[in-house]
Amino acid sequence: MFRLGHLSDPHLPPPRGALALRDLFNKRALSAVAWRRKHKQHDPAVLAALLADVADQAPDHLAITGDLMNFASDAEAAQAQAWLANLGDPSRITLSPGNHDALVKPGHPQRLAALRPWFGDDTSGDFPHVRRRGAVAIVNLRSAVPTAPHLATGELGDEQRIELETILRDLGREGLFRLILLHHPPTEGAVSRRKRLVDAGRLRDIVREAGAELVLHGHAHEALVGKITGPAGPVPVLGVPSASTAPGHRHASARWHLLEIAANHAITVTARGFDRQGEPLSELGRYRLPPP
Ligand SMILES: [Fe+2]
Ligand SMILES: [Fe+2]
Repeated sequence: MFRLGHLSDPHLPPPRGALALRDLFNKRALSAVAWRRKHKQHDPAVLAALLADVADQAPDHLAITGDLMNFASDAEAAQAQAWLANLGDPSRITLSPGNHDALVKPGHPQRLAALRPWFGDDTSGDFPHVRRRGAVAIVNLRSAVPTAPHLATGELGDEQRIELETILRDLGREGLFRLILLHHPPTEGAVSRRKRLVDAGRLRDIVREAGAELVLHGHAHEALVGKITGPAGPVPVLGVPSASTAPGHRHASARWHLLEIAANHAITVTARGFDRQGEPLSELGRYRLPPP
């Protein structure tokens, strides 16, 4: 039994001085405006309670599907790195970066480089990164790309997709449980056009041919259970809401998922988090994937 925690989109509050003067004329400035409008969406106290619960449940591994930052500034990258380091050893945490971690082009690779130890075991190359943990292989993708203002689209790109297909086939031959992580939902219609994964169709083609056992994503800030076609039946696709949604916000309340993956590849999902405003953190529900 492999016990995996999944949380997403913490959107850590920007540290003081997160924006430099040079940022005022690029996409970060627009994000700063958006943050001021939306900062009540995310509550650091909620995130702290969720993380304490994760620590209590002590999963074997933690998957975080992106959006640690808001503007992807140097100050925010340093803060995200410190936050991750505080969560635990990088060998037990896998991060797939989100669109808010990769907003603007200048300095972009360097900024994400601060988070590299959490991308995979050997991060000398590019995504996808594979981590083997017993019978589970975590296939970590990067859908985050810098985009034009007002867009939050993602893209895997040709190189990553070609490599993914080979990886999935090889891991499948070994009989491993193939767990794909990415920030953007790969299912159709899960988010608006402005927020979509532009090559989601091609990703679904690869999964249909090469197979996978589970896909985890964030980005939607909603609890989403979907599926995509695999060679031997549907592949479950699970999205978790933001780990820091403030009480009363229209988005799904903050939660994380504990996934228990059995040797026969059966998955039990336990949702833990906040239900209604003012209620303490609790187990929200438990279900099996795929349904028996
Ligand atoms: Fe997000
Ligand atoms: Fe996002």
